[in-house]
Amino acid sequence: MAATVTFEHVTKRYPGSAASRPGAVEDLSIEVPAGKVCVLVGPSGCGKTTSLKMVNRLIEPTSGRILIGGEDIASREVTDLRRSIGYVIQQVGLFPHQTIGENIATVPRLLGWDADRRRERVDALITLVGLDPAVHGDRFPAQLSGGERQRVGVARALAADPPVMLMDEPFGAVDPIVRERLQNEFLRLQADLAKTILFVTHDIDEAIKMGDLVAVMEVGGKLAQFGTPDEILANPASDFVARFVGADRGLKRLALTRVESLDLRPAVTARVGDDSGEARRRIVADPFEFLLLVDAANRPIGWIGQRQVPASGALTESMASAMSPLLDGKTTLKDALAMLIDAEVQVGIVVDGKGAVQGLVTADEITAYGRRDASASGAPGGAMASLR
Ligand SMILES: Nc1ncnc2c1ncn2[C@@H]1O[C@H](COP(=O)(O)OP(=O)(O)O)[C@@H](O)[C@H]1O
Ligand SMILES: [Mg+2]
Repeated sequence: MAATVTFEHVTKRYPGSAASRPGAVEDLSIEVPAGKVCVLVGPSGCGKTTSLKMVNRLIEPTSGRILIGGEDIASREVTDLRRSIGYVIQQVGLFPHQTIGENIATVPRLLGWDADRRRERVDALITLVGLDPAVHGDRFPAQLSGGERQRVGVARALAADPPVMLMDEPFGAVDPIVRERLQNEFLRLQADLAKTILFVTHDIDEAIKMGDLVAVMEVGGKLAQFGTPDEILANPASDFVARFVGADRGLKRLALTRVESLDLRPAVTARVGDDSGEARRRIVADPFEFLLLVDAANRPIGWIGQRQVPASGALTESMASAMSPLLDGKTTLKDALAMLIDAEVQVGIVVDGKGAVQGLVTADEITAYGRRDASASGAPGGAMASLR
């Protein structure tokens, strides 16, 4: 269950601020499709929290409207609206005198679920976020670590299976190792749950990792760019965005892209026992100077330089003198490049699940991809861009 969230020309000016001064949020128009994660990212004070709180009406916009599933939230009853939105904040906000189980059951209790149904849901959620109902269910928040409390915060927000989740710097208060684990767990959960999520962070790396879409905001509450992480890294819309994503944006892009999205170049291969003369003619005719020796199942054994391929006789395993890193379709281009930099032959051999050769990718092709502009790649988001 998920719903589209739409901001239409939403502006928030706090009382007392001069009409001539920019507001906390200025004319924000974005559409987050159902089931997608949209990250709002930008420096402190750029209006991220204000934008989020307007969705559950903790703050009312000065002008513009917000729609959930096509319905203007201004027409919704506030309590009912809030119960249909999961809200996770950095300080978690667990009730200290209630057990973990009671905390998670907050909304189901307000919705009048009976005790059995609540208990079942609580146990399922504690398990879902990687804790143990028998161990953690009856503890109090103070008896948990920061990372565990954060997981409970997520479980509580999910309790009534809300179509929309708001998360304000949810992993900001934990150390980097726990944060990375929570991010990964959350992405795994979201792959199944497919909620519509508005996620706030000031950390561009977290935004790129967590977002299907990223809205970069700048101080004054203005939307600087809205698009996929790849679009933003490849084509920053302004100097502000380029500085904000960082000088290493090419490398960041490589971390987002997997080998499977490149066109692989075919390898010239020959099997152990094949005729050397025939293999030599094929590799001499190819611009690449190494023959890839493979076994009977097409799994790579190693490279033979074209001059080392004998003019006659059979190919043997001992002729292979060098090997390259083995990559698979899921290897990120950043990891692939890191492996190739240290390799004897700076060509990655891409293999399938059985270890058979699919093709080759060179370090040069990877770095060229990092420099390439995303508009040519047919990335999704063109329809979104028109809302800018
Ligand atoms: N209650 C308030 N009254 C007046 N100004 C506020 C209030 N809350 C936030 N602001 C101002 O609005 C701007 C945006 O704040 P906020 O949305 O909290 O930013 P962020 O979450 O991006 O750090 C800031 O300049 C902040 O000082
Ligand atoms: Mg904030």
